[in-house]
Amino acid sequence: MSAPGPSERWRVRRFPTIASTNTYVLDEARRGEPAGLVAVADHQSAGRGRLGRRWEAPPGSCLLVSLLLRPVLPPAAFHLCTAAVALGVADACATVTGVAPGVKWPNDLVVRDRKVAGVLAESDPGAPGGELGSVAVVVGIGLNVSWPGPSGAGGTSLEEEAGRPVDRERLLEALLGAVSPRVDALDGPSGRSELAADLRRRCVTVGRRVRAERPRAAGGDLVGLAAALTDEGHLVVEAADGERHEVAAADVVHLRPAAPGSG
Ligand code: BTN
Repeated sequence: MSAPGPSERWRVRRFPTIASTNTYVLDEARRGEPAGLVAVADHQSAGRGRLGRRWEAPPGSCLLVSLLLRPVLPPAAFHLCTAAVALGVADACATVTGVAPGVKWPNDLVVRDRKVAGVLAESDPGAPGGELGSVAVVVGIGLNVSWPGPSGAGGTSLEEEAGRPVDRERLLEALLGAVSPRVDALDGPSGRSELAADLRRRCVTVGRRVRAERPRAAGGDLVGLAAALTDEGHLVVEAADGERHEVAAADVVHLRPAAPGSG
């Protein structure tokens, strides 16, 4: 049987305003909603970003969307859910506007090193209703269409980069189309290794000097060269002493190259 096309796979619910599309879809997943639910809002009153931050945007200025996936994959490969969606969003931007963002590890899309979108993946292993062995994962996207993000945060918008108005409906349609095959890829080892390869090609963090800001319990801040991505999509950072550290979760800051002789 062939994989469902985007129009059979996704069930889109639209909201003029909602607390958070991610919260809504997570709640629906806990009630047993099957994979494929999509919530889209013009405005969120309690939008959430990574690490407990708020995600705020003026009404109608961003594409705010959350997707319910139920992939069958090992917990170590969870990051590939973020990657699958981020890569699809990047493709959609390129198709609709000609602007092709890169992926800044772990979950931002950037143009000229400026953030144009953030991705927030959340899972609930207890949510019922999936295929045996699957886990409910909600992946939310906040894509700056006409607003570059809070002032001073160094963000940009698709309209600023494209130099013309961008239609959010066309973006959504392109996004759902581009994410579909990548969602299928999550369920098997060969698909996952193709996703990891695609992520390596589009990741603008590898090759940069970075500060990986990890929780203290996970080792705290780590400065070094972002050397590689593993097959699970984790970042390998090579510290000044040459030791390699695999980072599964962190905030990453791109740094200027070190001055010669400073390590
Ligand atoms: C980040 O960069 O911190 C991730 C931001 C993710 C924001 C999106 S907007 C749609 C969805 N609903 C939410 O509450 N958050 C995500």
